[in-house]
Amino acid sequence: MRGIILSGGSATRLRPCTKVTSKQLLPVYNKPMIYYPLNTLIKADIKEILIIVASECAGDYLNLLGSGHEFGVKFTYEIQDKPKGLAEAFIIGENFIDEENVCMILGDNIFEDDFSKDIKSFKKGGKVFAKKVKDPERFGVVKFNEDKKAVQIEEKPKKWISDYAITGLYIYDNRVVAAAKNVKPSVRGELEITDLHNFYLKKGELAVAMVKGEWLDAGTFDSLLEAQILAKNKLQDKLVI
Ligand code: TTP
Repeated sequence: MRGIILSGGSATRLRPCTKVTSKQLLPVYNKPMIYYPLNTLIKADIKEILIIVASECAGDYLNLLGSGHEFGVKFTYEIQDKPKGLAEAFIIGENFIDEENVCMILGDNIFEDDFSKDIKSFKKGGKVFAKKVKDPERFGVVKFNEDKKAVQIEEKPKKWISDYAITGLYIYDNRVVAAAKNVKPSVRGELEITDLHNFYLKKGELAVAMVKGEWLDAGTFDSLLEAQILAKNKLQDKLVI
């Protein structure tokens, strides 16, 4: 299993704090934000990790994280020239992924759960993780039928379909690279990760599990503040880095 941390983006919602640095380098309590998703991958014994960053901050990431030796893993870095969407990560990462399966986590997603078992036991298809939220219109949303089976996934639905957001941790088999190359830009001009979930959903090969503990996407000032409190009160003894 290869790991990817997607850590580019424009972070407009955190301006001016992100005018001269990357969102995922901002402090979350006593660590840079990216340490939390990195911890999730390292805990699951992923040894080869691709970090995708925007060019402006690439030097800062190298200075902070280095080769990976300090963490017992190997880092590879790639630049995403423009924030063209989450699915582009699998195109940028094609050579790195090679013939392996891949687990991608977003650089601003902070989880209390330990996903080691899901990651280590993954064989084929796709696996994503959902969480009930108050503001589903901000996320990719998944609708379940009476048997709790995922039947529909939509990106930021204007009309309510479900309260379950798909969180920023995705496990896919190697077919995701070819699938990403077939994704067409959405109306907002991005290669949507939702299209990749739907690629597997249509084949009946997408597993959707529930996130049990807390989950935050630290992309707004309020969620960043919540992330600081979560990190201080609940995450300190869960960190292995
Ligand atoms: P978002 O929070 O949706 O976007 P953003 O970080 O650019 O922030 P804003 O909406 O405030 O302008 O992105 C989710 C995560 O994915 C975040 O960690 C940044 C990353 N990302 C990329 O690396 N490349 C991309 O093309 C996009 C869209 C996001």
